[in-house]
Amino acid sequence: MFHNNRLCNLLGIQQPVIQGGMVWCSGWRLASAVSEHGGLGILGAGSMTPDFLREQIGKVRTATRSPFGVNVPLLFSKAEECMQVCIEEHVPVLITSAGSPAKWTAKAHEHGMKVGHVVANVKFAEKAEAAGVDFLICEGVEAGGHNGLEELSTLVLTQLVRKATPLPLVSAGGYADGKGLAAALALGADGIQVGSRFACSIESSASDIYKNHLLKVGTLGTVLTSRGWGPTRVVPNTFVNELQGLERKGASPEEQREFIGTGRSRRGMLEGDLEHGELEIGQIAGLFTGVASVAEIMEQFRTDFLETVQRLTQEL
Ligand SMILES: Cc1cc2nc3c(=O)[nH]c(=O)nc-3n(C[C@H](O)[C@H](O)[C@H](O)COP(=O)(O)O)c2cc1C
Repeated sequence: MFHNNRLCNLLGIQQPVIQGGMVWCSGWRLASAVSEHGGLGILGAGSMTPDFLREQIGKVRTATRSPFGVNVPLLFSKAEECMQVCIEEHVPVLITSAGSPAKWTAKAHEHGMKVGHVVANVKFAEKAEAAGVDFLICEGVEAGGHNGLEELSTLVLTQLVRKATPLPLVSAGGYADGKGLAAALALGADGIQVGSRFACSIESSASDIYKNHLLKVGTLGTVLTSRGWGPTRVVPNTFVNELQGLERKGASPEEQREFIGTGRSRRGMLEGDLEHGELEIGQIAGLFTGVASVAEIMEQFRTDFLETVQRLTQEL
């Protein structure tokens, strides 16, 4: 299966499923489990110190011999040091986001790394291609966490980026099973990046309080905060109500940033403060019925994908 898939061949994986780097969720347990089950596990450096990242890389290597990667959000204050760690540790795959990949791509290539970059519009996809990245990840507004200002849906963005560049393309935002994988491949993507489903897995390093709360997203829904300057998809709570109250009163982005302060996502996702923390998650969480293991999730990708392809073929 997937023998002719460009993404699998590029990254040396069995299923075209990348587990997205996620602050507070994607430590070595999650990343190594996904890689061990045939996908590409990613450590989320965005919530790690450089020393902690080095330690986590070592733990992934002890747990699996399969390829894995590190996500470095380029606007992160410790991005340079984390990048240095990735280079020194010869991490197989680097995924950059939230910034320009121009500075780091050539350097990562010199050290034998494959580089993917996350984009939310066609202009940045073209810039990333010009910077020499090996593959693109286009992330639509359904996705959990930080989104693009344009708020393009995954369905449309994937097709726009597919049309604009021949690079291997990973579609992200709203995927949690093999039906989604089949849909992404139908749109012209070579694979998918999945965040929310893995954030709500047993191996996710987030708080169990946060994970169990995600099972209520079907009722609670998600909201996009900070639209126009830093859209972020989260579960509604007291923190979100207060932030939206400030927005309605016309508070500037600086004033809103000051209110958010630092450590909100840690408080919500790692410490389980459901009211005053930031609970990043994507719309697809509305379908979750339980906190699942990575083995179950990866098996679901495989079986659902096969069933979907068979079902569609029967309609011909
Ligand atoms: C809790 C959470 C934290 C995230 N943190 C990051 C991050 O640190 N860096 C990044 O590039 N993307 C981050 N993302 C986005 C994911 O890597 C992935 O692209 C996205 O979740 C895919 O959409 P989905 O949520 O519908 O699966 C985060 C997503 C979630 C749900």
